[in-house]
Amino acid sequence: MKEKIIFDNLPRHIAIIMDGNGRWAEKRNLDRIEGHIKGIDSLRNILKSSLEFRIKYLTVFAFSSENWQRPKKEVDSLMHLLEQYISTELPMLIKNKINFNIIGNIEKIPYSAKKNILDAIDKTSGYSDIFLALALSYGAREEIINSAAKLALDFKKGKLKNLDSINDDIFSSYLYTKNIPDPDLLIRTGGEERISNFLLFQIAYTELYFTKTMWPDFGRKNLISALKNYEKRVRRFGKIKV
Ligand code: FPP
Repeated sequence: MKEKIIFDNLPRHIAIIMDGNGRWAEKRNLDRIEGHIKGIDSLRNILKSSLEFRIKYLTVFAFSSENWQRPKKEVDSLMHLLEQYISTELPMLIKNKINFNIIGNIEKIPYSAKKNILDAIDKTSGYSDIFLALALSYGAREEIINSAAKLALDFKKGKLKNLDSINDDIFSSYLYTKNIPDPDLLIRTGGEERISNFLLFQIAYTELYFTKTMWPDFGRKNLISALKNYEKRVRRFGKIKV
């Protein structure tokens, strides 16, 4: 039986850059896609642990707008894995009342995967126990630019009365993440210490946690370490501690 872990202070929203699948596979002389397959297992485990620890929001970077430039074989395999992942996981999402969504440019996703995604979004839209968002064909700069363009259009149409009234909340309501609070904790696996165009607007005050563990090796224990590390952080949001 798993020991029950007590946390003083848990993040409400965790965002994850699931990096290192390719290197994990290459180190074992395996095809990179084997790393992505193991990466899906890690995602399953982390979702399970998020349910166990009652993390309300989980947003994971599954495919960036730049990832389309990878060799066609890898892109096709990832899209195939995505299609399979959604249909295999749908009963689990429903059973656990997980609200599934995606952030990113869904238009670019091949029809067979898109069909499963839209079906899962539709079938889980009424749930609010936990929110899982997959970032797919996602790029933060593109998101911000598109949001600014939509906002400018609304202003032109007279939907926004004056430019001075635009604040964080109004701008946030144009982002893909409009119904999701900003992440409290961002985890990046795989040893790189950068943000790679993920949630640039939303992570202004997010706590960052980098680990050398490759995503296929990242499990419940590693998540606990990240959460224990987060517990010690003092968040000031630009103010001073009182
Ligand atoms: C980064 O590893 C990972 C990705 C580009 C894809 C992430 C995908 C998964 C974890 C599987 C779940 C995905 C779906 C489709 C549901 P990398 O390939 O950049 O690794 P590297 O930095 O070692 O090359």
